[in-house]
Amino acid sequence: MRQNTQHILKRQKQFVLWFTGYSGAGKSTIANAATQRFSEYSEQVQLLDGDVLRRGLCSDLTYTDSDRDENIRRVAEVAKLTLDSGSIVLAALISPKQAQRQQAREVFNKGEFIEVFIDTAFDDCEKRDVKGLYKKARLGEIKNFTGIDSKYEAPMHPEIHIKTAQQTVEECVNQVFDYLYSQQYLTK
Ligand code: ADX
Repeated sequence: MRQNTQHILKRQKQFVLWFTGYSGAGKSTIANAATQRFSEYSEQVQLLDGDVLRRGLCSDLTYTDSDRDENIRRVAEVAKLTLDSGSIVLAALISPKQAQRQQAREVFNKGEFIEVFIDTAFDDCEKRDVKGLYKKARLGEIKNFTGIDSKYEAPMHPEIHIKTAQQTVEECVNQVFDYLYSQQYLTK
């Protein structure tokens, strides 16, 4: 179906999709799939992934609250520059604190920042433990691990609330696009 839809998507407003959730919640997977969908529409799109940025731009930072503040500040600033160059931006970071996400939001003009809560139960993330980090955190080999010895504050009013347990990745991406159409960020 979608291969015939190229060029019919019109972007009406610029926006950044800011994905938040536990490690292993599916932020990167869903953001990657959404990025792929945008590029099928020939849209200029940039994904800023926490795991990737922490290997380069933010490799000097740890997971203390203050280093996470700085991590999120840097990524928001990069997102802003990228947005202003004409790209759709997707950022996927745990960004565990309400105040950190609020600070990121304030980097942007009103309406540009779209918070996407990837709502996967903590127990499910730990059970899956894709990267083996939860196990290490339980053994005390990793400190300040989100959900174990560092708190995650779930968004109270995210623009998009995705409950991953009930949906496939494609359905999650559809939910993002439904929001963008319903709020006239995109038109067909
Ligand atoms: S954030 O809190 O500063 O927004 P970010 O999204 O950049 O975090 O990085 C999270 C990723 O780093 C996790 O997905 C995981 O792979 C890895 N990681 C390593 N140590 C930790 C930790 N202590 N807490 C959370 N994630 C960690």
